[in-house]
Formats: sequence, structure tokens, C-alpha cells
Amino acid sequence: MNCSRVPLMNQPAWIDELKSLVEPGKVLTDPDSLQAYGKDWTRQYDPAPSAIVFPKTAEQVQAIVRWANTHKVALVPSGGRTGLSAAAVAMNGEVVVSFDYMNQILELNVTDRTVRCQPGVITKQLQNFAEENGLYYPVDFASSGSSQIGGNIGTNAGGIKVIRYGMTRNWVSGLKVVTGKGDLLELNKDLIKNATGYDLRQLFIGSEGTLGFVVEATMRLDRAPNNLTCMVLGTPDFDSIMPVLHAFHGKLDLTAFEFFSDKGLARIMARGDVPEPFATKTPFYALLEFEASNEEIANQALATFEHCVEQGWVIDGVMSQSKQQLQNLWKLREYLSETISHWTPYKNDISVTVSKVPAFLREIDAIVSAHYPDFEVVWYGHIGDGNLHLNILKPENLPKEAFFATCAKVNKWVFEIVEKYNGSISAEHGVGLVKRDYLEYSRSPMEIDYMRAVKAVFDPNGIMNPGKIFAL
Ligand code: MLT
Ligand code: ZN
Repeated sequence: MNCSRVPLMNQPAWIDELKSLVEPGKVLTDPDSLQAYGKDWTRQYDPAPSAIVFPKTAEQVQAIVRWANTHKVALVPSGGRTGLSAAAVAMNGEVVVSFDYMNQILELNVTDRTVRCQPGVITKQLQNFAEENGLYYPVDFASSGSSQIGGNIGTNAGGIKVIRYGMTRNWVSGLKVVTGKGDLLELNKDLIKNATGYDLRQLFIGSEGTLGFVVEATMRLDRAPNNLTCMVLGTPDFDSIMPVLHAFHGKLDLTAFEFFSDKGLARIMARGDVPEPFATKTPFYALLEFEASNEEIANQALATFEHCVEQGWVIDGVMSQSKQQLQNLWKLREYLSETISHWTPYKNDISVTVSKVPAFLREIDAIVSAHYPDFEVVWYGHIGDGNLHLNILKPENLPKEAFFATCAKVNKWVFEIVEKYNGSISAEHGVGLVKRDYLEYSRSPMEIDYMRAVKAVFDPNGIMNPGKIFAL
């Protein structure tokens, strides 16, 4: 059974009931809160939730889910609301469950190198906590200052260090979840080795709140990296980036390998608060990072740079000599998403295996040039792990609806190529509402049927983030 918008006439009664489940003042229904909490960073949808509820404990989350089952009210989880697939958008009278007040770091275990925390902990808060304790939480991305751990788990967030550390999935050693039936499950008990059948923890990671809500997570930490050093290299064309990756990969243990185009760099330079990496203009730039733990490694990096110049793959480059320079070089890449958000971009987040990237990108680029001749296209991404971000900027004078409709037409051709290369239509941003109609380009109909069946087990009344990942 699927639930739909809650009848408005019943609202006062059920809102009072909802209020009785949490602390005083922890249910909001004012228009500003409904607007703010009903959306994420996507701009396609107009938020229209019925209420926002702020639980403080796992027991309160259970009570909310049981209440929602009784009244057939749809629930939408809300973290830092930095998502780019509208998985946290509530546009049909749903109740938004915000984890803002479940934001405590609960316990550090130095021996196990783990930290137990609530889902509303901000990514940066966890990173800082790890650093203060001489350790490292390696999953990182531009929105780390506001994204929450629960949301990262819900979308299996990736980011800029995946080439070395993998995605969020690799760093979750245990989860407590409230299922769509209101049951509290403890998954994996923080074990490293556990061969006792299905790993339900992994099922919940990336499930976008469609099976249940994370109410506690134990995250793994790593040793702190040693003297992170960054290089930005200008390449004469896109085809040169992959040989550069292979050259450096063979010689250094890379912690990141990113790329961006000259159009992206131009937008960053226009901000006026980021230093230019070097004066030479090139069509593409690679940004790579490694631990220069000793002089030999730094010399190896310079020798590899010279080799790339001799081969004609690199025209100019710069290597950071201080923490400040490292941060400035990273701003060239990390500020891109926020900077171009001014032009309401249509975002594609596609991936293939690394070996297929050159041929794949050539085909995608041909489609994009043929079908978006009048739109500015900004390429960037985590090319070291095969993930490309294709951003189409909205011309200032074109209405949002017309722009998104044009982009949706081109999607078909882009995703046909993704399918041909056995790639993913969403490498790290999730499916949500934005990509759900394209899921069949990455998952077979039979696989989707199994996914639906799994959802029905955990959420028989269809109250958990309905309409996300697949249509109702
Ligand atoms: C990034 O790589 O910057 C993030 O995935 C956000 C984006 O694609 O804009
Ligand atoms: Zn990204």
C-alpha cells in the first residue's frame, strides 16, 4: 500500500499526536520551516511538507515511524540537505524527520579506531574530532561543512578521496536503524569480521531512507595522512589526462586525482578570492594529491611531472609547498559546485570503469556538443575513480522549466551511452527523484523488481521516503 498526502482536515488532530511523541517545540509547521526543511540543494521541485519533526532519541524515531504507519503518513528523512538528487525533498504533504538534534559524538574507541555517533553529526565535526584525536576520517567533499553522517550513509557519499579510501560504505562498521515497521535493528555490531549471512548494514547504506532511518552509526577512522601535497597540472586536451593519471599512479600512492575544465577554472577565477595556479591557459586541469612523507617521494613526483611534460601530456604545473598552498589549490576544485550553483546547473553524475573513461567521455562530449550548442557546459569530477560531473549551466534569460525540459530530452542520449559502457547514471549523488526515471539504464528490470521486494519487507506500508529511487 502506498500512502499519499495526508488529508488536511485531519491535520490538527494528528499534529497534536505527533507533538506528544517528541519534546515540546520539536514539531514545526510554519511556512518558513516547511520551505527550508522540505528541500535539498536541487532546484527542480517545490517543497510542500505538512510538518517537520525533530526527534532526539532512537525511541522517539521509533514512535514517529509507528505513528506514521498508523496514520499512513509518508516520512522524509532530512540531514544537512546538501543532496543533489532530491532524495530529501518533501513535496506531497509528507512529514520531514530532521536529525538536527541527534548530533552527538557518543564514543571514541582508540583500540578499534572507531567512533560511535548520532546521524545528525556534521561530516566536518567528525573529521575535526578524528584529527583532534590524532586520527582521520577520510570521506570528504565540498559540502562537508553542512552534510550529516546519516545523509552520507543514506546516499553512500563519495567525494574527492575515493581513489584511495573508497566511499562512505567502506567506513561504516556498524549501524542502528529504525525500519519502516518501527523496529530497531543493530547491524554488524561494529565487527571487522562477521560471516553470519546477509549484511543488512550494507543494504541500508545508499538506500536513501526508503527502508528505514539510521539512528546511530559507528564509523571507522584511519591513521592521519603525512604531509599531504597537491599538484595542479595543465593539459593540452582531455585525452592527456588519463596518461597523466597512469604515470602518477604507477609511481605514487595517490589520495586524489581530480579534473576540471578551463570553463570551470574561469568561474572560480571570477570569484576573485582564489589565487590562479599558474599563468599558462590550458583547456583541462588535473589536480592530484599524495602523501609526501619523505623527500624521495616529493622528488619522484617532480620527476613524473617532468616525464609528463616531455611526453606532451602536461603544459604547465604547480606543486604545493605549504598547507596554505595545498588549501588554495584544492579551492580550485572544491569551490566549483557552489560557484556554478548560481546558474542553476543541470547536473549529471555519471561513472564508468577507469579504463573506459577516454572512449566514454569522447562519446558523451559529442552528444553534449551536438545537443547543447547554446548552453555552457562545465566538466569536472573524480576522474581517478571514473566519475565525471557534467554540468549544464542555465542561460540567465531561459525559464527554469524550459531549461530542465531541454536537459531531460538530452538525458536519454547521455544515458544510452552510459548503458552501452555498463556505467552508472548516478555515481555518488544518489537516485532520489531526479534520476529515478532513468534507473533502468543502470539496473535491469529484474533487479529493480528485487529492490522493490526488499523495500516491501522493511516498509510494508510504503511510508519511508516514498517515490524516491523508484516511482510509486
Ligand atoms: C563535487 O564533486 O563537487 C560534488 O559531487 C558536487 C557536484 O557535483 O557539484
Ligand atoms: Zn562529486
